[in-house]
Amino acid sequence: MPESLRHDAHSFRHRHLLGIAELDASDIVQILDLGDTFLEIGERPIKKVPTLRGRTVINLFFENSTRTRTSFEIAAKRMSADAVNISASSSSTTKGETLIDTATNVDAMRPDVVVVRHAFGGAPHVIARHVSCAVVNAGDGQHEHPTQALLDAATIRRHKGSIAGLEVAIVGDIAHSRVARSDLLALTKLGARVRLCAPWTLLPRGIESIGGDVTRERTRICTRLEDALEGADVVMMLRVQNERMAGEAPRFPNTREFSRQYGLSRRTLAYAKPDAIVMHPGPINRGVELAPDIADGERAVILEQVTWGVAIRMAVLYLLGGGRSEAAA
Ligand code: CP
Repeated sequence: MPESLRHDAHSFRHRHLLGIAELDASDIVQILDLGDTFLEIGERPIKKVPTLRGRTVINLFFENSTRTRTSFEIAAKRMSADAVNISASSSSTTKGETLIDTATNVDAMRPDVVVVRHAFGGAPHVIARHVSCAVVNAGDGQHEHPTQALLDAATIRRHKGSIAGLEVAIVGDIAHSRVARSDLLALTKLGARVRLCAPWTLLPRGIESIGGDVTRERTRICTRLEDALEGADVVMMLRVQNERMAGEAPRFPNTREFSRQYGLSRRTLAYAKPDAIVMHPGPINRGVELAPDIADGERAVILEQVTWGVAIRMAVLYLLGGGRSEAAA
């Protein structure tokens, strides 16, 4: 049995995973260490362990997703849990049912874990107050995306050895990004320094304070891409979320101008350290925030992030779904 599975899921002190804000550094490290252990299962010819046999995981997704929904489903199935997917278009919310009624009805079928994505910040928190199962936030509006931050931290840790002391640039549409918020919280809790870079119109006032003093002391705001990239160990690019700005006054002149000032290209990447890695949570808008040769280049670890997504979500389901260590080998 792997050493990191000698402790049972009971050692995790949270009933839900609603945000990185609720975790401390030791909680994050516990999940990352478990993710390290589970990564190897994906390389086996038979990718299945009995860890969550008999458990039920329901994916309740009210927003589109490729990576998160699929990786939670794969994670559940790799641990022998039963996985069920419910999407907004197939749920009875389209007939007028409230979110809480949907959640309590799903809970009445006695799942062990419900994974929730919703366009409204706080929706998973509301659900958690009304159900008896564990709730995982798979992205709530512009608020948090905790498992993305955990898989990002796992990817960085694998490439850089440790996170403390790293300089991380997060560039793009910070205003609408739940990934930026969760990454900022996770990486500063683990001791990294973070530069947030965007035009002022895409930089929410006070974002550097969302995690209190630790985050404030370790965060720098930049409006010039070159300043954010100078000497960075990690460059995290974000997509402009046009769908969240529909009907608003434009926040930048046009996509071409945004790309010229904030896009990562061979020229701008040269400001970062020679061994800097390039990350992106996906989906990518090729040619906007990332030049195609950088997205596909040797410094990009974007698909590795996706692979880590399964391992980290296995770790989260294990901890919240009551996994048994003796069944995990
Ligand atoms: N990174 C991420 O959340 O991707 P999806 O929207 O495809 O799940």
